[in-house]
Amino acid sequence: MNHYTIATIAGDGIGQEVTPAARAVVDAVARTHGFTTSVVQHPWGCEYYLREGRMMPADGLAQLRSCDAIYLGAIGAPTVPDHVSVWELILPIRQHFEQYVNLRPMRLLSGVPGPLRDRTPADIDWVCVRENSEGEYAGLGGRLHKGTPHEVAEQTGLFTHRGIARVVRFACELAMSRPRKLLASATKSNALQHSMVLWDEVVDEVARDFPALTIRKYHVDALAARMVTHPQTLDVMVASNLFGDILTDLGAAVSGSLGVAPGANLNPPREHPSMFEPIHGSAPDIAGRGIANPIGAIWAAALMLDHLGETDASRQVVTAIEGVLAAGAVRTPDLGGAATTADMTSAVIAAL
Ligand code: NAI
Ligand code: MG
Repeated sequence: MNHYTIATIAGDGIGQEVTPAARAVVDAVARTHGFTTSVVQHPWGCEYYLREGRMMPADGLAQLRSCDAIYLGAIGAPTVPDHVSVWELILPIRQHFEQYVNLRPMRLLSGVPGPLRDRTPADIDWVCVRENSEGEYAGLGGRLHKGTPHEVAEQTGLFTHRGIARVVRFACELAMSRPRKLLASATKSNALQHSMVLWDEVVDEVARDFPALTIRKYHVDALAARMVTHPQTLDVMVASNLFGDILTDLGAAVSGSLGVAPGANLNPPREHPSMFEPIHGSAPDIAGRGIANPIGAIWAAALMLDHLGETDASRQVVTAIEGVLAAGAVRTPDLGGAATTADMTSAVIAAL
């Protein structure tokens, strides 16, 4: 019987509410698919920071190294600056474990009232492959003359041939595995004449290995507009770290709610553990009320099962999510209903 060790960081706010929901679904599906999991819970996050002065222990990354996958709820609280919580926990994990692909499926699911008029699930079925290890979030730069009127801040993006090529190759392979064989590359080579021109050149270079793939380049602003005006013309997208971050929140919104969108931070060569998380944050505005939509967290767990090789179990979870949303009887407030996190989780488990 296959066994997986899942390092879990439920984190802050609704992370504490949606992580147990995802775990309950994994437990339920494990029973019927003949595998077991053990969950190692790490109490890291903003409360830990307020107590210990850091987001995770000094050997936190070492503690995660030997697990089969990392599951993250959400990180962030009004009491800790967001750049601290992001830079001391999420980004170190992504960078240290070379999780250079941030994979974000974005689908308008049947039964979900999306904000775009007359759009159906056939129009919005995308996957964004976001570069996740360098680019605009490389963390390079500094501030000079702090607190004075002539203070200076410099934030440097770092783009490497290797970094671009590996994420573009992943996106090309993913696009080839889908019926439309269609890839959109987000660029901005008109204004960013160094980084994004390199990006475009590497896209062209990698594309030579995929003659059957249609690759279209869009400036990122035009791509954002296209996601709203011509969503049916898009399938797989590949984007730099910042561009992908923004496009996927837009994609989640267009799919009906940030609460349904999952994300996977992948180390494709499997030299290090990958990390799975809903794309939403800790939602302090609704935290503690038991009304967070657990679907994004549950779907992220399905991505995790797929990565672990439990493809049937993964597919069963996604089918259950689709079934519950299509039936429409159980909906959390973000989807216009009055159901709780627990109601939604029970409904998914019942639909398995
Ligand atoms: P957010 O994603 O937490 O919330 C944005 C809006 O969407 C809020 O109105 C919230 O109530 C709603 N929402 C989010 N998830 C929901 C769910 N599952 N069900 C129902 N409604 C949901 O983003 P925001 O407000 O910008 O950030 C809040 C905190 O989360 C900040 O500290 C931020 O740094 C952090 N954050 C953490 C992320 C992570 O852990 N990967 C990602 C994004 C933000
Ligand atoms: Mg984001």
